[in-house]
Amino acid sequence: MSMIRQSVMNLEGYTPGEQPDDPSIIKLNTNENPYPPSPKVAEALAAMDVADLARYPDPVCRALRSALAELHGCKVDQVFVGNGSDEVLALCTRAFVENDGSVGFFDPTYSLYTILAKIRDVGERVIALNDDFSWPIDDAITALNGHMDCTLFFFSNPNAPTGMLCPLDDVRRFCEAFDGVVVVDEAYVDFAEECCDRLALELDNVLIARTFSKSYSLAGLRLGYAIGSAPLVEAMYKLKDSYNVDALAQVMALAAVEDVASMDANASRVVATRQRLARRLGELGFTVCPSQANFLWVEPPRMGAKEMFDALRAHRILVRYFPGERTGRFLRITVGTDAAIDRLLVVVTSLCSDG
Ligand SMILES: Cc1ncc(COP(=O)(O)O)c(C=O)c1O
Repeated sequence: MSMIRQSVMNLEGYTPGEQPDDPSIIKLNTNENPYPPSPKVAEALAAMDVADLARYPDPVCRALRSALAELHGCKVDQVFVGNGSDEVLALCTRAFVENDGSVGFFDPTYSLYTILAKIRDVGERVIALNDDFSWPIDDAITALNGHMDCTLFFFSNPNAPTGMLCPLDDVRRFCEAFDGVVVVDEAYVDFAEECCDRLALELDNVLIARTFSKSYSLAGLRLGYAIGSAPLVEAMYKLKDSYNVDALAQVMALAAVEDVASMDANASRVVATRQRLARRLGELGFTVCPSQANFLWVEPPRMGAKEMFDALRAHRILVRYFPGERTGRFLRITVGTDAAIDRLLVVVTSLCSDG
């Protein structure tokens, strides 16, 4: 008999995007920020005394939570800080789903949600997005109301991998109708025109999840957080690892929050490059989904997505390809520096004219 749980034997773990060692490769595959974090982060790191690492960190991140509470106009007990927003999402599946319950989400969306449900060994209620990747909000409400076991819904907004933004009023309608916890995963929201944080403050069943990995240029730090009603936050605090956020991460993230202007400036640069890339790919005949994130979801003309993925790779440019019936026609391209995007456009233009 195997020593490993059957559900773990059957599990296919999350596949992260490639992280090549070669710095000459143009990396447009994991939605990282191409610009460095605030200089205040480097200053905070330089000011740290390694001797302080002999002690455990603050288990509940008080200083960072206060800064985040101020940023979002809420109380400290409405903020949960975790080891990346992936930890925040995982804790939600542990806190808000019964053993015979299920987790809901749209499809396609962030591929971790299905894996978290499988890790927790619970059911999945998957609602297909419309053909144009917009949200069938009313159908979703009807479908989910028929499944009372579904007590947690992950709503990625802007959605990954499409980059599309569901309007606030539609998200609100969904949250008001859903009989469970809705986690609005706003990993990419700093690149978007509107956010849902007020829903988390107005509705008891809504959490927003944020990350420092994208707009704050701190993916290597592993820092994410959730904002919502105090009882939901308290439940997550009961379940987390004792010291889930290390001392360095707490200090550096605090420095980043204290310089939001630097993050905003980087996000604006990314948005300007995204607009230029979208326009140019459209002119080349690509179908380009309207993105409010730091990446584009595009269908190439005249050749398959996998073929273009391989051709770009041969030119040392990495983008992301997700096999599958709906996703396999598209590529997800992270918005890089202007220089990286110029190089991408040169290669793509030649591929489209050769094709
Ligand atoms: C929608 C979405 N949520 C969450 C995350 C994970 O963020 P973190 O790096 O904070 O774990 C990602 C990462 O790609 C994402 O695309």
